Amino acid sequence: MAAGHTYVSDIARFEGQTVTLKGWLYAKRSSGKLHFLQVRDGTGTIQCVVSKADVDAEVFELSDALTQESSLVVTGQVRADERSPIGFEVGVETLEIVQLAEGYPIGPKEHGVAFLMDNRHLWLRSSRQHAIMRVRSTVIRASRAYFDERDFTLIDAPIFTPAACEGTTTLFSTDHFGETAFLTQSGQLYLEAAAMAFGRVYCFGPTFRAEKSKTRRHLTEFWMIEPEVAYADLDTVMDLAEDYVSTLVGRVLDECRRELESLERDVSALEPAAEKPYPRISYDDAVERLRARDVAVEWGDDFGGDEETVLSELFEKPFLVHRYPASCKAFYMKNDPERPELALCCDMLAPEGYGEIVGGGQREDDLARLDEKIDAHDLPRESFEWYRDLRRYGSVPHGGFGLGIERTVGWICGLRHIREAIPFPRLMGRVTP
Ligand code: 4AD
Ligand code: MG
Repeated sequence: MAAGHTYVSDIARFEGQTVTLKGWLYAKRSSGKLHFLQVRDGTGTIQCVVSKADVDAEVFELSDALTQESSLVVTGQVRADERSPIGFEVGVETLEIVQLAEGYPIGPKEHGVAFLMDNRHLWLRSSRQHAIMRVRSTVIRASRAYFDERDFTLIDAPIFTPAACEGTTTLFSTDHFGETAFLTQSGQLYLEAAAMAFGRVYCFGPTFRAEKSKTRRHLTEFWMIEPEVAYADLDTVMDLAEDYVSTLVGRVLDECRRELESLERDVSALEPAAEKPYPRISYDDAVERLRARDVAVEWGDDFGGDEETVLSELFEKPFLVHRYPASCKAFYMKNDPERPELALCCDMLAPEGYGEIVGGGQREDDLARLDEKIDAHDLPRESFEWYRDLRRYGSVPHGGFGLGIERTVGWICGLRHIREAIPFPRLMGRVTP
């Protein structure tokens, strides 16, 4: 209850009482003497019934004039109604139009995706987008809570950076007073510095990739949560990723039942993900399984969307693929001492065809070997001077991972395309609205 009005989400506490609701008209149905107004206020939608017999003529005329998405304030009595999805409706007594909306562009009819994307600023009001954003909000809240409750220190990484972290082909560059700065691809390198200061740390922020691929999995701006842990090896990293993701899914299942239902998400396909352990397979094993399904894959290639889709149909819950060939992974990965051609890394793939949601592993902690990799990747050593310091002064084994929020929300909500998992998506070919 805020000053002077009630939210739909609190309505059950007000049965039998007169309340004031402030919101927008989602839809309207009328019969001669009755108007059924679907009023949404951001916390929920409730039917408000205007009966000609019960209200002043002026109130009835106002509700006659009401159009979709007009803003309004209604006062009326809350009554239980078993036909209502939320169990209550409001018998309107008075009504005020705050602003009459004319020609709202998104109607009940089917619209094309491009049209909806152009109107993303309005599309967010629809019940489906509302449900997705509520799940996203829960995923983020639960993620922060997970690391906060386990004594990880939040360390914010910079967005303007001097060098690539995840490969030079997907860098956005900007002019920073005459110097080139790149938009960060990952906070990881800074988190490694922070882990040497605080032990266990995480960051959460926007990251950028100039991906030239138009796929259902790629955004150019996305949000990533990245923990980093000193004295962690690959197994510790995998244990952490598994514990975090299963906890996260459990919280969404607890807190977002109604949203998942409104998205018609098959919750039974999600439930296994709330239980540990998750299967773990090596890259070698993954290649064999792909070949057994007639997917042509060369040992040494990274998996693309197609391979991931096939793999992610093999298990009913998320699973980890570990020890990829070092040649297809980033420069900072530590090699497996038992098989140096492999990197001590892991990806977590979501089931039902969703594919990679987490990438991480153990980092190279030896200066000489790190230098070889910086050179082999053609990266400028000068830009990594500070990062090299971390291997000069008290270097320890360490590792971490990054989870993409939108990929995760897309999987949890069962979305066909990642663009609906972020409020204002940036993709190749789209920077508006
Ligand atoms: O696998 P990536 O590239 O790993 C890193 O950036 C590491 N530095 C993270 C770390 O170890 N701290 O990205 C991590 C995750 C992916 O698994 C995916 O979920 C997401 O970020 N991601 C994207 N999401 C949307 N659009 C893109 N273009 C993405 N690229 C990566
Ligand atoms: Mg990756």
